[in-house]
Parts: sequence; C-alpha cells; structure tokens
Amino acid sequence: MCNLKFVFLISILSLPVSFLSSSESEAIDALLRRLDAKRPPPSVQESAAKAVLQRLLPTHASSFEFKIVSKDVCGGHSCFRITNHKKSSKNDAMIMIEGVTAVEIASGLHWYLKYWCGAHVSWDKTGGSQIASVPKPGSLPFVSDEGVMIPRPTPWNYYQNVVTSSYSYVWWDWERWEKEIDWMALQGINLPLAFTGQEAIWRRVFSDLNISTPDLNDFFGGPAFLAWARMGNLHAWGGPLSKNWLDQQLVLQKQILSRMLELGMTPVMPSFSGNVPGALKEIFPSANITRLGEWNTVNADPRWCCTFLLDPSDPLFVEIGEAFINQQIKEYGDVTDIYNCDTFNENSPPTKDPSYISSLGAAVFKAMSKADEDAVWLMQGWLFYSDSSFWKPPQMKALLHSVPFGKLIVLDLFAEVKPIWETSSQFYGTPYIWCMLHNFGGNIEMYGILDAIASGPVDARVSANSTMVGVGMCMEGIDQNPVVYELMSEMAFRSDKVQVQEWLKSYSQRRYGREVHKIEAAWEILHGTIYNCTDGIAFLGLPLALTRTNCLFFSSLILLQYEWNARTQVTMWFDTTKSNQSKLHDYANKFWSGLLEAYYLPRASTYFSHLLRSLEENESFKMDDWRQEWIAYSNKWQAGTEAYPVKARGDALAISKALVEKYFG
Ligand SMILES: *[C@@H]1O[C@H](CO)[C@@H](O)[C@H](O)[C@H]1NC(C)=O
Ligand SMILES: *[C@@H]1O[C@H](CO)[C@@H](O)[C@H](O)[C@H]1NC(C)=O
Ligand SMILES: *[C@@H]1O[C@H](CO)[C@@H](O)[C@H](O)[C@H]1NC(C)=O
Ligand SMILES: *[C@@H]1O[C@H](CO)[C@@H](O)[C@H](O)[C@H]1NC(C)=O
Ligand SMILES: *[C@@H]1O[C@H](CO)[C@@H](O)[C@H](O)[C@H]1NC(C)=O
Ligand SMILES: *[C@@H]1O[C@H](CO)[C@@H](O)[C@H](O)[C@H]1NC(C)=O
Repeated sequence: MCNLKFVFLISILSLPVSFLSSSESEAIDALLRRLDAKRPPPSVQESAAKAVLQRLLPTHASSFEFKIVSKDVCGGHSCFRITNHKKSSKNDAMIMIEGVTAVEIASGLHWYLKYWCGAHVSWDKTGGSQIASVPKPGSLPFVSDEGVMIPRPTPWNYYQNVVTSSYSYVWWDWERWEKEIDWMALQGINLPLAFTGQEAIWRRVFSDLNISTPDLNDFFGGPAFLAWARMGNLHAWGGPLSKNWLDQQLVLQKQILSRMLELGMTPVMPSFSGNVPGALKEIFPSANITRLGEWNTVNADPRWCCTFLLDPSDPLFVEIGEAFINQQIKEYGDVTDIYNCDTFNENSPPTKDPSYISSLGAAVFKAMSKADEDAVWLMQGWLFYSDSSFWKPPQMKALLHSVPFGKLIVLDLFAEVKPIWETSSQFYGTPYIWCMLHNFGGNIEMYGILDAIASGPVDARVSANSTMVGVGMCMEGIDQNPVVYELMSEMAFRSDKVQVQEWLKSYSQRRYGREVHKIEAAWEILHGTIYNCTDGIAFLGLPLALTRTNCLFFSSLILLQYEWNARTQVTMWFDTTKSNQSKLHDYANKFWSGLLEAYYLPRASTYFSHLLRSLEENESFKMDDWRQEWIAYSNKWQAGTEAYPVKARGDALAISKALVEKYFG
C-alpha cells in the first residue's frame, strides 16, 4: 500500500551553490558541456529509461511517461521532476518523470516508487526488488499539483573501485551486468568505472610493440586477480588468460558501454599507468623501466612478484599511453573524456622533489591528452591516506597542480572515515568527489557508519571554499549492507543532511513491506551499534554458497582454472610455501555455507587438534606443524571442484532463535 507518510521526507530543497571561483566554475561547466554533447539524443535515452522500467516493473510500463529536459528546467543543474501526467484517455500514463538524462529519469522513477509507493530495490543477494507494494496500474498515487523537483547538488555520482571488477564482477555475464547497470541508473550513478575487457586492448597495444603471447601470459593476472595485475602489484598469478576470455570480455565491454551510454552515463575508462611486461625491456633497452618491490608475496617468487614500471618521464610512456587510448577509441568510439590513472598508488615516486613529482604528473596527463585533447584524469586519492608520510603538502600540491585546473578530479576515497579534503585545503583547490569506501575485499559483515554518510557529503559541499564536485561509492565489493548503499546513493540528490532515525523508519517500512514497530525499534538499535561502526564485526551472514550462476561457460579445463581462481581469491588469496601462508589469507573472506562447512570448519579443527595435543602432552604448540597442515589443506581445497548448495535450507528464524538462546540466553 502507498503510504503518504513517505512524503514528509521530501523537504524544500535549496538549490546548489558553487564555491569555486568563476574561472574554475567555468572550467567545470565547460567539461560538463563537452560531456553533455557526447550523450545520445533524447529519444534514445527516453527509450533506455523505458527499458529499465520494463525490466523492473513490466506491469506498469505504460503508467509512466518519461521525458528528457534541458538543465534550464532545473536552474542550470541536473535534476529530475515528478508531476501528474495530464491524461487525455483512460489508458494514458499517470505519472510524468522528466530528467536531464536517462539516469535522472530512472532516479526519479526510483524516488517515486520509494516515497510514494513504498517499494525497495536492492541487489538480488541483498533482497532484490520488493515492488509488491506498488498499487495497480491506474491506481498510482498522485504527487502534489505543482510536482516535485529534486536537483543534484553536485554534478557527479561516481561508482566502483578499481578492485570491484575482481571481487564482485569477475564472473558476470551480460544478464548480470544489465541488472547492475539498471541498479546504477535507479541509484543515480552517472560516472561509473568501465574497466571490463581492457586486457584485450592491452594485447593489441603490446602486440604492436612485438611483445609475444607468452610474454603477455606472464603479464596479465588470472580472471580473479586482474585488478592487481593492472595495478602492477603482481603478474601471472592465476593466469594465463585464454584468447577466449579476452575476446568474451571485449564483447561484454561493448555491451556494457553501449548501455551506459544509452542511459546518458559517462563511463570512466582505463589509461596507462606505466605498468608494462618485463619483456619490453628487451625490445627497448634504453627505456627507463624499473622493477618494483615485493607486494605481499611469501618469498618474492619472481613468477608473480615484482612487476615492471616504465618511468613517466620516459618518452615511451607518452607513446604507449597514447597508443592505448587510441586503440580504445578505435574499438569503442569517442565515448568519454574521463580516464582513471593511479600511477602512484602504493608505489611512491623515487624522490620527494616537488618539481620532479610535478613532471611525472604532467607526463601522465600528456599521455592521455595526446590521444584525447579533452582528457580529464580521474585519480583515486588513496595514496594521500595510505602513504601520508610521503605525500606531505608540497608533494601533494606538486602532483595536484601538475595539470591545468579542471583536468584532474580526485576521489576522496575513504571520506566517510578519513576525509582528506578537510586536511588538504580541499585538495589544494582541486575538484574532488566525496566517496564512501566502506567495504574491503567484498566481505559480508554487517556494519557501516550511517551518520557520517547522512551528513559528510553535505558538510563537505557547504564548507568554505569547497571544491567538491560529486559523491561516489568506491566499495571493494558489492552485495552486502544494502542500507548503507541506499543511503549513500540518495546523497547524490540530497541538498540537506538526512535525519537517519526518521529515514530508517521509512527504510524499514519499504524493506519489510509495512510498518512494524518492533522492526523499527530493532533498526534503532542497529543504527547506534553496528551501523555506527567503521569496521566489520563478525556477524552471521545468510547461508550463501560458491555458485556458478551468472557465470560465463567455458571448456572444462578452463573451468578448472576459473574455479581455482574463485576459490583462491576468497581463501588464501595469494601464494604460500610449505610452512608460510599467504600474507593476504582471508582478506576477501565470505561467510558462505560452503566455505564455513568445508573450509573453515576443518581448518579450525586442525588448529584445535594441534592445540589439544600440545596441552595433553605438555609441550609447546607446534606452530610449524600446524601451519604446514592447514596450508596443505587449503591448497587442496583451492584446487577442488566439488559443488556446494546454492539455496538456503532450514528455517532461518528457528536457527537464529536457537543461536540467540545458545549465546545470549
Ligand atoms: C616489430 O617487429 C617488426 C618486424 O620484425 C619490426 O619491423 C618493428 O620495427 C618492430 N617494432 C618494434 C617496436 O620493435
Ligand atoms: C629512471 O626512472 C627512475 C625511477 O623512476 C628515476 O629515479 C631515474 O631518474 C630515471 N632515469 C632517467 C635517466 O630518467
Ligand atoms: C577560503 O578562501 C579565502 C580566499 O582564498 C581564504 O582567505 C580563506 O581563508 C579560505 N577559507 C578556508 C576555510 O580555507
Ligand atoms: C555514533 O557514535 C558517536 C561516537 O563515536 C556518537 O557521538 C553518536 O551519537 C553515535 N550515533 C548513534 C546513532 O548512536
Ligand atoms: C615463515 O614461517 C616461519 C615460521 O613458521 C617464520 O619463522 C619465517 O620468518 C617465515 N618466513 C617468512 C618469509 O615470512
Ligand atoms: C609441564 O611442563 C613444565 C615445564 O615444561 C613443567 O614445569 C610442568 O610441571 C609440566 N606439567 C605437567 C602437568 O607435567
């Protein structure tokens, strides 16, 4: 049933105010105009938004009228507008949704379904679409006569982390991607990372430089480890990539990009960071290629340790960077001007000299802008947090000011916990996006910090001399904590802080289909405890399992390699010796039933049997014996292929009650 109580949440919104100087605003406006000019015509976007509706709520496909409008309708910004549609016949649409792009239309639709019809849209693994509360076509509730206009307080809503492609999307087919892109549109995301298939582009670029297939096999990572091979943390681990994989991913990327574009999104494409195959050194002996240090291996095994970095100051850097973007444009067309590049992530420049750092930054930018004269560099600001002893104000300023204003956008990656904008005079005047990182390794514990999400982006935007140009979500993995992601997504359309307590009431009504005071009270507790918390607390998740659904299908041998990739990523992650486990073991752990039953339980039993023996025999704990045993067990499990249930069994309520009784009774 529709509930008019939802309406109180829509407050009178003040229009956005920009704090940038006029020449700086002009640079951002010019960028926005260039990106707007790349979008497809209104009819294409309107149909794309209709198709989202058709997939989400087919019964109501003709209950809504969609229209692309100009920014003038929203006072020069982006917005959506919901009004009652003037019916001329009985079968006409009831609700009109206008938006500056198809993304704003989809967001307006989502807003209407949430706040007028009590619906709830989530990832399938976190509840899926709950739309039973939407009244029948013909009975949809009207909005007030003057309609509702919701502006975006900042132009961009960014989505993804460079590792999400490995932790969450690695096995997806087009069907799953299509669902995700629908979800993105409904949440208002207009600046998504589009990293799929880049190895196919690299294959061409490096083949043109006479790098052989075996050399490329040694360069790329396996499917579940691509993100770290791309960043130069490792090479060949989990590989090689088959030609089939490379070709399939390229096809997938074309489908992804064309859908993003139809919806009026601006994809963020990869660019060259200096990460090259070792063999390049033989082809270009005079090129300045250095071997990077060890990254989380057990014993620096050169089979996967220590990748090669082409120095940005080398002329070959610009050549390869330009070739990569040209190859990308050749393959996909002129789809964006925004390129991600993280050359200095977990990899400090060789000197702290600001003028040298500035020349490196300029070279990275030159490599992009030679191929795309309007290129804008999007950089994760993680280094300013993780390597803050290197990146002091002079070094930060040197990097951030190495390119013209408006040509660099920084992601304040962990702003809900460690905002950099506050301590860096707003990135020394550089435009930045306020991002929530929230999740590490795709872990599924319940936690988050709702108060910070509800107020942080607003505080940042209205602060003196703000250079904030967007909000974003940079989680390492998805499919967890839907409440956190729903609130964060709303912040793209919230000009004022959200009162979390009230918001949670409406959230729980929408999520559980009706008003239940006990559930609201439970959410009050969660708000003050696990959802006022910056790290994961072990908490019993839903019984999920390793699943092969939504997977791409390949030959059995390749399937074996993929299964090893999938199992290794969620358990040991990286390499081992006989008695030294990976430094990254359990980083990407999941409380899935198959893992609990077949992996963690035997592993824990091994530990307890060694412990028991040492106590019984009054000997010190044999650390080395125990390690050898669990490492061998883990490696064997990683290479297994047995299937696990993918459907929950048993009575979740009864089990939960029994657990509460057992531990708190
Ligand atoms: C690649 O090999 C071809 C044929 O041997 C040669 O003409 C070309 O110069 C080589 N290119 C590079 C970059 O070494
Ligand atoms: C080569 O690169 C290294 C590391 O980036 C740098 O320290 C060195 O100055 C560079 N050498 C030349 C000749 O440019
Ligand atoms: C904002 O900018 C003005 C002019 O550059 C400066 O005087 C002022 O101190 C800045 N305020 C803050 C809080 O940084
Ligand atoms: C969350 O914790 C902070 C202190 O860390 C506290 O000030 C705040 O009131 C808490 N919020 C809730 C909803 O309990
Ligand atoms: C390997 O493990 C042993 C203990 O089992 C430890 O003494 C040694 O330092 C470890 N080696 C490395 C490279 O971590
Ligand atoms: C266990 O060993 C310690 C010394 O290693 C000894 O002091 C103690 O008496 C022993 N306990 C038993 C129950 O044998």
